[in-house]
Amino acid sequence: MKKVYKGNILFTKEKDRFEILGNGYVAVDDNGRVTGVAKDLAALDCDGAEVRDFGDCLLIPAMNDLHVHASQYRNQGLAMDLELLPWLTRYTFPEETRYADTQYAERMYRRFVRDLWRFGTMRACVFATIHTESTRLLMRLFKEAGMGAFVGKVGMNRNCPEALKEPVEEMVSGYESLLKEDTASGLVRPIITPRFIPSCTREMLQACGELAAKYQCPVQSHLSENKAEIMMVRELEPESTCYGDAYDRYGLFGQTPTVMAHCVWTEGEELELMQRRGVTVAHCPTSNFNVASGMAPIRTLLNAGLRIGLGSDISGGHDLSIFRMMVYAIQVSKMHYQQHHTQAFLTLSEAFWMATKVGGSFFGRVGSFEPGYEFDALVIDDSDLNHSNYSLLERLERYIYLGDDRHIRHRFCRGKEIEVKELRS
Ligand code: GUN
Ligand code: FE
Repeated sequence: MKKVYKGNILFTKEKDRFEILGNGYVAVDDNGRVTGVAKDLAALDCDGAEVRDFGDCLLIPAMNDLHVHASQYRNQGLAMDLELLPWLTRYTFPEETRYADTQYAERMYRRFVRDLWRFGTMRACVFATIHTESTRLLMRLFKEAGMGAFVGKVGMNRNCPEALKEPVEEMVSGYESLLKEDTASGLVRPIITPRFIPSCTREMLQACGELAAKYQCPVQSHLSENKAEIMMVRELEPESTCYGDAYDRYGLFGQTPTVMAHCVWTEGEELELMQRRGVTVAHCPTSNFNVASGMAPIRTLLNAGLRIGLGSDISGGHDLSIFRMMVYAIQVSKMHYQQHHTQAFLTLSEAFWMATKVGGSFFGRVGSFEPGYEFDALVIDDSDLNHSNYSLLERLERYIYLGDDRHIRHRFCRGKEIEVKELRS
């Protein structure tokens, strides 16, 4: 039996404009897929279906976070005084060693999943740690919540503390054991996660590429984030023509669906390789500020036709809200514009499209209300922000800039309303 939801519907089919249906209807089938969206109920072929009326609320696609470290949740909002490489050594690696303890992991991961839910993020590409059992736990927490996640057991075996080096064979067997988790629904599944080139020997990269090919798994990592990192990669992989090529050689650059975080310094050959391989970018503006990496040239990457979603990158980033990430992405593009004056800054519809339809596309047909899309949605009660004669688009803009989790009344993932009260700790 179809379900029908009524509200003030806004979404982005294309980057340059919003679809807006005041007091409109979305019909959703038993598999949680949208069958139609219309101003008029009669147009939806839904005789007898229950209509759930959200009154004057906004009804929009849910958020997608393409890059976040669950295992850095304790460090959120801390340790902003160093650049990437010393930041990893001083703050991040020591915290990640704690995830050998599954009790600690459970405490942190429960909070993490609950908070993603709070901010309306229904799908995420997540880094855990090297630890298989904590990673399994994180997968199970997402499953229990009913939210979508690609969860990465992190591959690393060099340039880090001994406690975070995992022998290649153990990484492989650990990863394979995670593939045995129930992933039939496709909502939660493991993702191949070499941390970044400086953390992985050739054998590790080779093994990651082989796993991705053998099991047709997606891949996530970091790319061209920071200048010192890029120099290090040049020294470690001298035959590679660029940082991206160092992944590509091992089958980790678009041979299966791949998302690379940052790309602050991507240009030239690396940019062309990303185009050719269809590699997705996770743009993480707050992280790029906090660890002082630079401003990603998002307009250039967009013009090159790359798919770009948004990532919070906790704890390089300090903010888990993808709504805030839209604001930061627009602001970074404006700083870029102020410096260069050659390229237009991002518009609201572009930022929204990145957060919803582009980010969602990494998980399937997610992030829009077009027919065939999975119904991932948020119901926003912005009544306390809506005190003048605002249009629906102005209301959405104000919510994006001023709103927070308290305005989100309902959250849906693949057609199911998600409530994670049981995860409250
Ligand atoms: N590069 C390798 N590891 C990390 C990490 O944990 N955070 C960020 N921002 N960049 C990385
Ligand atoms: Fe990261």
